[in-house]
Amino acid sequence: MNKANLSVFASGIGSNLLAIHKASMDKSFPGKLQLVICNKICPAFELAKSLNYDTKLISNLDKDKFEEIAHQELIKKKIDLICLAGYMRVLSPKFVFKWKNKILNIHPSILPLFPGLNTHKKILLNGVKIHGSTVHIVNERLDSGKILGQFAFAVKSNDLDFLIYNIKKYENLLYPEVIKKYIWTFLFKEDKFLNYKNIHIDNVVFSY
Ligand code: GRF
Repeated sequence: MNKANLSVFASGIGSNLLAIHKASMDKSFPGKLQLVICNKICPAFELAKSLNYDTKLISNLDKDKFEEIAHQELIKKKIDLICLAGYMRVLSPKFVFKWKNKILNIHPSILPLFPGLNTHKKILLNGVKIHGSTVHIVNERLDSGKILGQFAFAVKSNDLDFLIYNIKKYENLLYPEVIKKYIWTFLFKEDKFLNYKNIHIDNVVFSY
């Protein structure tokens, strides 16, 4: 089976990286993780190395320099799709233009609500009763590209750690599914995958 070459950009814990890795172990997953890029030493970087991925640490550089090196690495590896997974730096419009429609991000809120940082704190501070995450295409404006998939659940406690734990748990289910669908529909142009999926797991609604 023909597979799309994937790159993950990460700066954090790496739970979404791990989820993409696990999903890509399945023969039917249409992507192959070829390159992990980190902008600092972080658990995701260590995880990628321990999983034997080609892992590039591009740190201590200004954005232009970072993106120039990242671009060369992506071309070298013939990357078809970049998945931002806890990558904590905003990409420049120039870089996004070069990789138009080929960068996905997972953001921990039900966009277009709560773009930007500290979404969980904002949810609790404002007493918002529904929370979730969004996978979207990255465009030139922060957290505003086309939405590809979301999940939502009821916020039942003010415990920040519990909220983050739940967000990650369901992100790790959503992100690989959306990547899979995007590769089939956008890269491989298979319209049989176009239908919306609406799924309930543990009273959480997933739509993609
Ligand atoms: C996720 O919650 C994601 O939505 C946000 O950063 C977090 C990354 O988590 N963009 P991890 O590093 O994948 O565990």
